Amino acid sequence: MKAVTFQGVGDVRVETVNDPVIKDPADVILRVTTAAICGSDLHLYHGKIPGMLPGMVMGHEYVGIVEEVGPQVRAFRKGDRVVGAFHVACGCCRQCRRGAYNQCERGGVLGYGMAFGNLEGTQAEYARIPFADYTLRKVPEGLTDEQALFAGDILTTAYGAVRNSGLSPGETVAVVGCGPVGIMAVMSALAVGASKVFAVDLVRERTELAARLGAIPVPSKEVNPVSKINEWTDGEGVDVVIEAVGGPATLQLAFELVRGGGRVSAVGVTSEDRFAFPLMQSLVKDLTFRIGVANIHRDIDAVLALVRGGRIDPTVVVTHRISLEEAPEGYRLFDQRQAGKVVIKLN
Ligand SMILES: NC(=O)c1ccc[n+]([C@@H]2O[C@H](COP(=O)([O-])OP(=O)(O)OC[C@H]3O[C@@H](n4cnc5c(N)ncnc54)[C@H](O)[C@@H]3O)[C@@H](O)[C@H]2O)c1
Ligand SMILES: [Zn+2]
Ligand SMILES: [Zn+2]
Repeated sequence: MKAVTFQGVGDVRVETVNDPVIKDPADVILRVTTAAICGSDLHLYHGKIPGMLPGMVMGHEYVGIVEEVGPQVRAFRKGDRVVGAFHVACGCCRQCRRGAYNQCERGGVLGYGMAFGNLEGTQAEYARIPFADYTLRKVPEGLTDEQALFAGDILTTAYGAVRNSGLSPGETVAVVGCGPVGIMAVMSALAVGASKVFAVDLVRERTELAARLGAIPVPSKEVNPVSKINEWTDGEGVDVVIEAVGGPATLQLAFELVRGGGRVSAVGVTSEDRFAFPLMQSLVKDLTFRIGVANIHRDIDAVLALVRGGRIDPTVVVTHRISLEEAPEGYRLFDQRQAGKVVIKLN
């Protein structure tokens, strides 16, 4: 089959690789129909994730048709159209039993290299999906591939960050970073009842998309986000900040934007090991800080229901629809911020 493979920093190629086969009785083999390039793939592209070896298949956002099921799979049969989580979870270890699927003792991330379970990715004609009964969901009736696709990653990541912040209807939110994940956070916060959402990004056009969705744009190259948001919140700051970039600068900004007693919920990925935690500021402000990888299995059903109910349209972030062969150019455009979300259409 054809697949997008990692070759080195800034170098991905479409190559012919072995077709995936069932390795475990709980596996499903999927014929991928739609895939996407994620902000997290860019960390691989930049060589920031150890354990991604040349030749490994990339990608972890996908919709497809079940082609073959392992003997233990109960929820799916050949021909089902499914969307899947970017990370896999066994469903029965101690962590899965407490609902912490992102901490699964046998978990991993598709297409993310040796350090994340050594699982091949989904930017490919076919993919092996482990623990399929837990990792996959049938695409609800009436939804297109593209409408369902982001429930497996960025939309549910963003929704989960909002849920983890404990947002109550009527509260104010600042979303730092309006890449695809940040845009999903804007939509999620509005869907669960935020009174105002401020959308902060260095790139003006990205804040403008957020504005069309109902947010207040804060292009942070042109205006100081702290003074602007203080102005709009009577000097208080926001109840909740969602950090959707990754790294010390935007985390620090989040601590400055939040009001006393407020909550910061971070999902941005960074390769930096350390962050100078603003101890005194947090103590005095009585803050709650939450950071973590997404728990897709926990939230995916709620998210698919919001999409199906017309409360969230995740396709607004898609700017490019390309073939598998065009994927290297898709990576280049996404990396240069000349593309929003890049969707790969397969068979
Ligand atoms: N925690 C998880 O499970 C999880 C899941 C999916 C994605 N992510 C992470 O979420 C982050 C965002 O993903 P994405 O797909 O939207 O990526 P992206 O790279 O497309 O978006 C990042 C955005 O942040 C903006 N930005 C950069 N520096 C900024 C600054 N100093 N101030 C304001 N804005 C700034 C950029 O202009 C860009 O619009 C990535 O780090 C990704 O790896 C995490
Ligand atoms: Zn991702
Ligand atoms: Zn588990």
